[in-house]
Amino acid sequence: MKKKYRNIVFLTGAGISAESRLATFRGNGGLWNGCNPDDVATLGGFKKNREAALSFYNNLRREALNAEPNAAHLAITKLQQEYDGEVSILTQNVDTLHEKSHSKNVYHIHGRIDQSLCLNCSRAFETTEDVLPETVCPHCECSGSLRPDIVFFGEEIRFGKQAKELICKADLFIAVGTSGTIVPASKFAAEAKRKGARAVAFNLERLANLGDFHQFVAGKASVTLPKFVCGLLDGAPEIY
Ligand code: OAD
Repeated sequence: MKKKYRNIVFLTGAGISAESRLATFRGNGGLWNGCNPDDVATLGGFKKNREAALSFYNNLRREALNAEPNAAHLAITKLQQEYDGEVSILTQNVDTLHEKSHSKNVYHIHGRIDQSLCLNCSRAFETTEDVLPETVCPHCECSGSLRPDIVFFGEEIRFGKQAKELICKADLFIAVGTSGTIVPASKFAAEAKRKGARAVAFNLERLANLGDFHQFVAGKASVTLPKFVCGLLDGAPEIY
């Protein structure tokens, strides 16, 4: 019998962009192997190590802006374009590869690396160039007050209300390339499942919250996700 989902919610993490040659955070070659997140990804650490932290995010921004979406990003876009149901994306990624692949309904719960935030006037603005300690805010013209417009450890996620609403009404929840270690995103699968959604995880390896999923699809997201999307479009996702 064909199964029809009305509300599909993706949660994407660094692993979906790994095949676009963007580093993940954990595991071999992960960003947090070469750098202590306390030094650059907390507000206290950022302020204390301002120059090094800005340089870390300048590299991240350059790489993100130069990257191209891969088959996994494109598969989600195809599903959005061809599936008769709502398809939304909660992403922990600060890159913009979902936008580059023309996906819609994308919620950057950890912010975006192509934006900066002024600690003086609290306004955000698009940033495609390197930010230096002396770079001036285009709004308040204050110098030395810019940080990347991304969520640091200890800060609230963005779009928390929308995420909650989407998870509550999801009937299919799909996590792609996330280690399931960072709250609150790591709790989304359990919450979606509790509300009645089918929960499926796509990852190279077993993730920390694997017990929250009905199904685990092991492998590279660029290979596994397009196949799964074809199954959904054919009305037979469970056969995958
Ligand atoms: P992680 O680096 O923690 O995990 C990446 C996951 O992707 C791992 O479980 C890998 O096994 C998997 N993976 C790698 N390549 C893959 C591939 N080709 N196909 C499928 N899976 C693959 O990244 P996140 O879970 O996204 O927060 O990390 C969550 C948050 O922790 C990040 O958003 C970041 C970080 O600290 C902030 O910057 C606020």
